[in-house]
Amino acid sequence: MAQQAVIGVTGLGVMGRNLARNFARHGYAVAVHNRTEAKTKALMEEFGHEGEFLPAGSAEAFVASLARPRKMVIMVQAGPATDAVIEEFAPLLEPGDILVDGGNAHYLDTRRRETALRDRGIHFVGAGISGGEQGALEGPSIMPGGTREAYESLGPILEDIAAKVDGVPCCAYVGPDGAGHFVKMVHNGIEYADMQLIAESYDLLRTGANLTPPQIAEVFRTWNTGRLDSYLIDITAEVLSHTDHATGEPFVDVVVDQAEQKGTGRWTVQTALDLGVPVTGIAEAVFARSISGHADMRAVARGLSGPSGAELGSSFADDVEQALYASKVVAYAQGFNQIQAGSAEYGWDIDLGAMATIWRGGCIIRARFLDRIRAAYETDARAATLLSDANFAAEVGAAQDSWRDVVVAATRAGIPVPGFASALSYYDALRAERLPAALVQGQRDFFGAHTYRRVDREGVYHTQWELPD
Ligand code: NAP
Ligand code: ATR
Repeated sequence: MAQQAVIGVTGLGVMGRNLARNFARHGYAVAVHNRTEAKTKALMEEFGHEGEFLPAGSAEAFVASLARPRKMVIMVQAGPATDAVIEEFAPLLEPGDILVDGGNAHYLDTRRRETALRDRGIHFVGAGISGGEQGALEGPSIMPGGTREAYESLGPILEDIAAKVDGVPCCAYVGPDGAGHFVKMVHNGIEYADMQLIAESYDLLRTGANLTPPQIAEVFRTWNTGRLDSYLIDITAEVLSHTDHATGEPFVDVVVDQAEQKGTGRWTVQTALDLGVPVTGIAEAVFARSISGHADMRAVARGLSGPSGAELGSSFADDVEQALYASKVVAYAQGFNQIQAGSAEYGWDIDLGAMATIWRGGCIIRARFLDRIRAAYETDARAATLLSDANFAAEVGAAQDSWRDVVVAATRAGIPVPGFASALSYYDALRAERLPAALVQGQRDFFGAHTYRRVDREGVYHTQWELPD
């Protein structure tokens, strides 16, 4: 038994327990601690044989068992619980020690905590960890922020336990203070958008093309052999082919159609609004969940007039694949723009290609597609939009006829496709020669003397609207 642990984990819930086991399975002596000691004991009883665990019954014993400079991971709920744990442990640490928050903290909380702990000489690392319970155990995607100095000693351990794709770890230094949690937040926002687009595809195939859930599962399985190959498409096929044991009905038909949310998608949109980044795909996804949950409004509106479904041929599935792919490119382009904007705002200097690289495995949005985003940023690290990358531009260009057909067909059939439609509008807005924003500027100047700039001269202008022309 090792005298001291290389790293420690406090908070042995779903994530923390598996993360500790992952460290142990990779040969690290790991200290384990939980507020309720029964969980520490349960971990030791069930999994103690998997590696070298040093169980601790108190914060003091836990910290004492860590080799210097100490490295400890907090894996508790974001918010007050994280602050409570930091307050308990920070006084026991010494300058140079590394305190990692692996929870889903808001990046502004991480910035606040990092500043406070930096004053005490402690490296605070806000690390986004994605991949859920299974990822934590078998290899998550890890997005660590904090100082480069902390990453020098902590990084190799995290890279060791992270998922690997083509031998490359799904973990890389993100940037100072809140950068890691910011990137994790946008990851979740993109996850919302991706899930919404897949859900719309399902709805089109179900309501529009009258396919059954098992048939749609087969369509998704086929898509998963091509450019849409991803974890989310894979699990979608699994969910759609699942039968409810109690009723014999397709599982998806016995689930209440109200999507819940814990908040990371909302944080992404709130932050995007503050940064002035148009993440329409993520916003539509958050609002689509919100609409689904408004049972009261939906109940009174259910009888409103409109078409009900359509008879779209099964070859329609190919058009939906094109629309899904093009909309997905837009959603990811928007998410990466948000990371770019956050990086500029806070001086983080985030390597966008590296973020695509570490999302290729371990996390919920893992997909073959991310390798193409990595390649795009390798070509142009400062690209204003991924849509201008030659490969994506060609693919989206080739998909656009189907994309437009799908949005038109959905509109005619009365099938809501906020994700597809807003992605297409975004694409059209970006490529437009002139936008009607000129008229908006005219209106603003008329009612509020807000001024405007001209296309033919420098300067700022205001028109005396009350004077005759
Ligand atoms: P969990 O299973 O609910 O476990 C929560 C842990 O936090 C327990 O060990 C609990 O201790 C501890 N805790 C709560 N309040 C505390 C307090 N005031 N002081 C000390 N300890 C406290 O949660 P989880 O799913 O592992 O999630 C942990 C973090 O990871 C969260 O920030 C979550 O957002 C993030 N995350 C979760 C997932 C996922 O798929 N679940 C994925 C990525 C990230 P007791 O046993 O004493 O209650
Ligand atoms: P992953 O990156 O592996 O998806 P995650 O971001 O923690 O991990 O999300 C896993 C689940 O935990 C999701 O259901 C998520 O809810 P939302 O989809 O509504 O975001 C939930 N989750 C995320 N942050 C949470 C928090 N602070 N408290 C409770 N649940 C949370």
